[in-house]
Amino acid sequence: MRARRLRPERPWQEHAQLYRDLFSEPAVAAALWPGQPLDRAAARAAEILAGDIEHWQKCSFGPWVFFEIATGVFVGRGGLCRTAVAGRECVQVLYAVRPDAWGRGYATDMAALAVARARELRLAEVVGLTAAGNHASRRVLEKTGMCLRERVERAGLPHLMGRLRTVL
Ligand SMILES: CC(C)(COP(=O)(O)OP(=O)(O)OC[C@H]1O[C@@H](n2cnc3c(N)ncnc32)[C@H](O)[C@@H]1OP(=O)(O)O)[C@@H](O)C(=O)NCCC(=O)NCCS
Repeated sequence: MRARRLRPERPWQEHAQLYRDLFSEPAVAAALWPGQPLDRAAARAAEILAGDIEHWQKCSFGPWVFFEIATGVFVGRGGLCRTAVAGRECVQVLYAVRPDAWGRGYATDMAALAVARARELRLAEVVGLTAAGNHASRRVLEKTGMCLRERVERAGLPHLMGRLRTVL
């Protein structure tokens, strides 16, 4: 296993600017909300942060903000998040990385940490969801061990879903 390069932190209101920066990146917004105007990104970032803070208040886990250990630079958001797919409650592995840090394996590290946390929490299963055309995201999920066999619709768009048993 690779040496740890990222430091996860529980998100707080003080991270608002980091969320705004991340979700206002055109490449990140285009992957998450294809075809949607970028001027909604700041409002979305605020909603996501508020949701993450509330998630941690309700559960003993949630999405983290990640910083490079070597430099202290913010690189993205990722972790575990409760969601519903086709009316069923699940815990999703998620990740988004600043484009200037893409291609260094950071999303893979975030997903691996999320899966490790799910095992510590003794969750039975985690799921991964990705737009079918998001090849980098598909690869991140495959590297956790998921097979993306199921087709589901999210926000009106076709997505692929995989499941990973996290209790051995
Ligand atoms: C998806 C995303 C998180 C990947 O982040 P990253 O830190 O660059 O990912 P990694 O460096 O860990 O690389 C992931 C894998 O995808 C591969 N990959 C990257 N771009 C690819 C592409 N266009 N096509 C196919 N594979 C690709 C990498 O080679 C790597 O696989 P490998 O280790 O087998 O070589 C990043 O692009 C992102 O933040 N996108 C916007 C938000 C998003 O889409 N989040 C996912 C929502 S479901």
